[in-house]
Amino acid sequence: MKKKIMCVFGTRPEAIKMAPLVKALQQAPEFECAVCVTAQHREMLDQVMEIFDLKADYDLNLMRPGQTLTTITTGVLEGMEQVLRQAKPELVLVHGDTTTSFAAGLAAFYQQIPVGHVEAGLRSFDPLSPYPEEMNRCITGKVATLHFAPTAQNVANLAAEGVTKHVYKTGNTVIDALHCMVQPGYTFRSQQLAEIPLERQTILLTAHRRENLGDGMRQIFAAVQQLCAAYPQLQFIYPVHPNPAVRRPAQEMLGSLPQVHLIDPLDVQDMHNLISRVYFVMTDSGGLQEEAPALGKPVLVLRTETERPEAVQMGTVRMAGVQTERIVQLARQLLDEPAEYEKMANAVNPYGDGTASVQICAALKQYFGL
Ligand code: UD1
Ligand code: UDP
Repeated sequence: MKKKIMCVFGTRPEAIKMAPLVKALQQAPEFECAVCVTAQHREMLDQVMEIFDLKADYDLNLMRPGQTLTTITTGVLEGMEQVLRQAKPELVLVHGDTTTSFAAGLAAFYQQIPVGHVEAGLRSFDPLSPYPEEMNRCITGKVATLHFAPTAQNVANLAAEGVTKHVYKTGNTVIDALHCMVQPGYTFRSQQLAEIPLERQTILLTAHRRENLGDGMRQIFAAVQQLCAAYPQLQFIYPVHPNPAVRRPAQEMLGSLPQVHLIDPLDVQDMHNLISRVYFVMTDSGGLQEEAPALGKPVLVLRTETERPEAVQMGTVRMAGVQTERIVQLARQLLDEPAEYEKMANAVNPYGDGTASVQICAALKQYFGL
């Protein structure tokens, strides 16, 4: 009898990192794998589903304009109760730190279905930053029975909390995804992106985190304004998150700068190939902190903390914070000092060799005694 596994995700980053695992589970004869999307994100999730050719067996279709953490949480809890009663999986897999992950994990726990946490053990140690993701991943870790930790540091973080049973160090599935997506000579699908001349010195920017909304975002955008004024040859590409709380200030502060290209969110394949072609990356994203180092690109992190210290320790990622002055100073160093740039532009990859999904499948077989 095949073991029934359900993968649940709802946002863009979860989908990107769960897609290679879904594929691996679907290919393993020991498992029957169902996909349930909460659609906490709609367009951005659907883009990933399309690129990886994934079909949802269940779709809660939750996204609403102006959704709050509470409405997402209650929607996932209530929706998952129905889905789990109907589908009766023997294990539920959730990913990372989103509200979908923790609420779906809790819904499974309420029905005493074991939960496997993919990308387990990351910690910033500040419950309010990233907010609410740090708490989401801690709670998910509490309800989970199996923990798939990308790095030795993540395993150690779990051990420090007393979690040592069913902990597997597997690498991060983001590297599996990168391996399928990045291709030499790749042609961008996005028309907006295809029209931008990448021969110019290009910085890729992403910024969307809740704790940066408001002042943080304005400080970041002021740094971009100053850098554009100081370096006329420079250009920024900023695929803007659809959240109106991000779109509005981005448009207001950067919309009229000819050196800044505000474009729609990119599909994951365009994004991964774009990273491989830019000069460096400035971001408050979690996933990009893993992807850019793997592709040899320096990263300035627009946050005050990180739950991904590995690439910082290896020198490819620097914490730039959310103060205009420091962001400008670190960017200037990369632009003005070739030796500094070379020091950071080494391809380092503490997140695995692209076999995380296969390793997670093997761990699941072991867990089920197959
Ligand atoms: C969520 C995750 C965050 C992850 C991010 C990836 C939580 C608490 N946070 O935050 O960890 O980094 O996703 O992007 O789960 N929207 C659209 N279309 C979309 C997606 C979003 O219009 O396809 C808009 C909606 O107006 C929505 C808003 O964006 O209300 C915010 O989305 P939400 O899922 O609440 O939070 P994120 O900041 O995206
Ligand atoms: N990403 C994408 N298109 C974009 C911006 C990001 O495909 O326009 C990808 C990016 O490569 C990474 C993931 O989305 O894999 C990161 O998502 P996000 O920044 O939304 O969330 P986080 O990683 O912070 O959870």
